[in-house]
Formats: sequence, C-alpha cells, structure tokens
Amino acid sequence: MTLPAPADRIQKIPRYFFDIINEEIRIMQKQGIDIFRLDIGNPDLPPPDFVVDALENAARNPRNHGYSGYRGTAAFRQAVARYYQRRFGVELNPDTQILPLIGSKEGIVNFCFAYLDKGDVALVPDIGYPAYAAGVSLAGAESHWLPMRAETGFLPDFSKIPADVLQRAKLVWTNYPNNPTGATVGLDFYGHALELCAANNMILCADNPYVDITYDDYVAPSPLQLPGAAEYTVEFMSFSKTFNMAGWRLGAAVGSAEALDRLLQVKSNVDSGHFAAIYEAGVVAIDNISDEWLKERNAIYQRRRDKIMAVLPEIGLSAETPRASLYIWAQAQEMDGNQYVQEALHKAHVSLAPGGAYGPGGEPYVRISVSVPDTRLEVALEQLKSWYRNR
Ligand SMILES: Cc1ncc(COP(=O)(O)O)c(C=O)c1O
Repeated sequence: MTLPAPADRIQKIPRYFFDIINEEIRIMQKQGIDIFRLDIGNPDLPPPDFVVDALENAARNPRNHGYSGYRGTAAFRQAVARYYQRRFGVELNPDTQILPLIGSKEGIVNFCFAYLDKGDVALVPDIGYPAYAAGVSLAGAESHWLPMRAETGFLPDFSKIPADVLQRAKLVWTNYPNNPTGATVGLDFYGHALELCAANNMILCADNPYVDITYDDYVAPSPLQLPGAAEYTVEFMSFSKTFNMAGWRLGAAVGSAEALDRLLQVKSNVDSGHFAAIYEAGVVAIDNISDEWLKERNAIYQRRRDKIMAVLPEIGLSAETPRASLYIWAQAQEMDGNQYVQEALHKAHVSLAPGGAYGPGGEPYVRISVSVPDTRLEVALEQLKSWYRNR
C-alpha cells in the first residue's frame, strides 16, 4: 500500500534544520561520541526555584486540569500588561491587546495564516529566524527578502523595496535583538519601520524574544514605546529566553487589538490554550523574577560570549561582539559556513549552526550559541582549537 502524496505546501518548506541536526547528533551519540552543542539557543540554566514550585502547586489544583480558555487566563494577561508597564512604560488593555501563545514560534506561523493568502507578500529578513518564511509559505503567500548584510549592521534598507512589492505586502517581520546576527537597534529603527507600515497599510510584526538578553548596559526597546504604535504593531514576546523557560512553551502576542482578534480566530480553531498551571507559574515568573536575577543570568552569558570571542582568531572565525541575544555570528575565513559546521561536528565533535539555515545571505557564517555550561564550553573551545590547528 502506498500513502497519498503529501500536500503541495510541504514541498515549499524545508525540513527544520534543528530536526535534521538532532538526528545526526543522535546517531553520533549512539556510537558513544560526546557532542558539544553550541548550535541551539536553548537556555542551559533553569528558571528560579520559586517558579518551578508555583508550577508544582498549580498542577496539584484539580481546577487547573480542564481547558483553560482560548484567550488564556485573565490573571496571565494582566501579568503581561504589568510587564509591559514596568519594562517599557507601555499601557496595554489586557483583555484586547494581549493574547497568550504556546511559544512565540506558534504565534508567528499562525499570524501568517491570519493575514496572508496566495498573491500576498510578507517582507522577511534574509538573514533571519526561519519560522517567518515558513509561515508565509505555509499560508501560500510570497516572502520578499530584505537583505541583512554586515555593511548595514544587519539592518534592512526599507528604501530598496520595489513599489509593486510594497503594494502587495501586508506584513513586515523584524527581530531585534536579532537571531542569528546579534544585531541591535534603537527606538528610531522602529520609527522608520512604522512609517513604512503606515504609508503602505502593513502590520509591523516585531519578534522580540531576546529583548531581555542584553550585555554591556545595552537596553533593548519595544516598538510599542512609540506613540500610536499599537494600532499597527504586533509584538511577539516569549518566556523562553527571558526567563529560561523554553520548554514551557509560553509567550504572548501583544499590540493591535484588531490583529490579535484575527489571530485568535485562527488559534481558537487550531489549539485550545495552554495548561492553566503554566499560566499560573508564568504570572509568578513575571511578577517575581527580579532585574538582579536577569542581570546575573546575563552576566553568565556575557562571560561565555567573551570566552568565545577571545578564541575566534585561533579557529578561523571573525565576528563583531554582540550586545545582545544568545549568539555570536561569525564569518568563516577559509571555507563556507556549511563546510565549517560539518568539519567542526565530525572532527572536533562540536555542533554549530550553519549560517545558511537562516537564509542565503547567511552562507559564509556560522552561529555559535552561549547557552552551554561553562565547563563544557571550555572543552568545546579546546577541541575546536586543536582541530583547526591540525587540519
Ligand atoms: C528570533 C526567534 N523568534 C522566535 C523564537 C521562538 O521562541 P519560542 O520558544 O517562544 O517559540 C526563537 C527561538 O529560538 C527565535 O530565535
């Protein structure tokens, strides 16, 4: 018996890079090889104990085991509103301007379903997080690539977008602090992006999971800080990196009430919300994780960042020091990023992410993550040095 052919849309998206690499690594691990994972941005440190305790307590409450509603709990939405007030000075209506997500990746893809049809265009960064282009393709629409290159600080040049593209474009995706380049912006960047949106009837989709992973006194902004921005902005916030809660799959879409209502229309037909205990513990995280905790956690990442930066010349890589995010975006000097990643994996047993996984513009690069324990990071860097010296 043969199965029917899969949907055409499946041909339009690649297999997810980390699914492929996980499989390759699993096979190597089965052969007894210890692989050092500097590829994925997966926080190695836990959230504070009191957040885990809150989850445990909430899980023991029998009332928390039913469906929790399509808009999450009011308490959770109110907590996200308090976070925006405290962190950005932004007032949001928790009932209409905040919608919980099962991780921001889910919201990114479902938002494309809410707004894009065949013939529509979304402006998508090349180099960027792969879910934007995947969401656009799954919705049957077209991505217009915005080149992000070192010469422009990995920022898009909005003035180069052809008029006919702007006419069909409905969404523009931004992501600062950026994965994978580590690029950062000031509020003025969002001012330009919002002018573009206002002039062309587009929604600014600001993906902002690294907003609280910053170094060297840099403070990352939210576009919602600009007056009137909430009318045509949807920001995707996430607990994954801010609070070391990536596996909890918790985030929120925040901003335009009208756009969130469209997103809810998709989501309420696709998912049935989160486990209520996760929302409850999420409230505890937002209200009780202190700025000091965030600073100490970021200092750990910053120390690792500096360790990696110091070694780059010895391993054939060069990079600007990032002021934020979990990544060092390094250009390979003597080969392309993919070859570098393959050799590093098989000869040094260190896994890195190839830049090409983030768009064609990323091919000369590799991405190195700081979310790996210090002791393992030190061994991984030694193994890279020894491989590179002896090749
Ligand atoms: C730029 C960017 N956006 C979104 C996500 C997804 O985060 P979440 O865990 O909230 O789905 C990631 C995860 O790595 C990311 O790097």
